[in-house]
Amino acid sequence: MSKTAKKIIPRETGMSVEDTEALADRVFEDDDLFAPISSGSFRYDCMFVAPCSESSVAKFASGVSDTLISRAVSVCIKESRKTILVVRETPKSTIMLENELKLARCGAVIMDANPGFYPGPKSADDIVNFVAGRCLDAAGIDHSLYRRWE
Ligand SMILES: Cc1cc2nc3c(=O)[nH]c(=O)nc-3n(C[C@H](O)[C@H](O)[C@H](O)COP(=O)(O)O)c2cc1C
Repeated sequence: MSKTAKKIIPRETGMSVEDTEALADRVFEDDDLFAPISSGSFRYDCMFVAPCSESSVAKFASGVSDTLISRAVSVCIKESRKTILVVRETPKSTIMLENELKLARCGAVIMDANPGFYPGPKSADDIVNFVAGRCLDAAGIDHSLYRRWE
């Protein structure tokens, strides 16, 4: 979690940072550049940044890696591993679009957090689960978070 995420999570979800961290198997601080995911020699299949601010996109696109998140993304891209950036800004400036294009050309998946309405969502949770499910689809991870189009 970035410093800003820690402030926004309670505002947007009503959950505390501690409750959110309790959902994870492991938690690292964003200034902990010595965490395992800082190195390409640490093995993992893919990385999600969710949600991913356009500020972070700009950092990733320019190769700045001065936080654990930006370093881990930089590593994931250089190791040609699946990197999924769940951006949600709208509308987007030319600068944002160019940054996203640059990352997409490097193999990153730019996953706008846009819900589909064909599964007939009945609640905000259904909408969130659709976006989460599409993110897992991008990584090839099985789930039953939404009803597929058939
Ligand atoms: C209420 C609020 C909502 C925000 N929503 C977005 C958003 O949807 N997309 C975005 O790219 N930035 C958004 N921002 C701006 C980011 O929080 C800001 O650029 C921040 O520096 C991102 O830091 P991080 O990438 O290290 O988490 C929002 C900021 C606030 C205060």
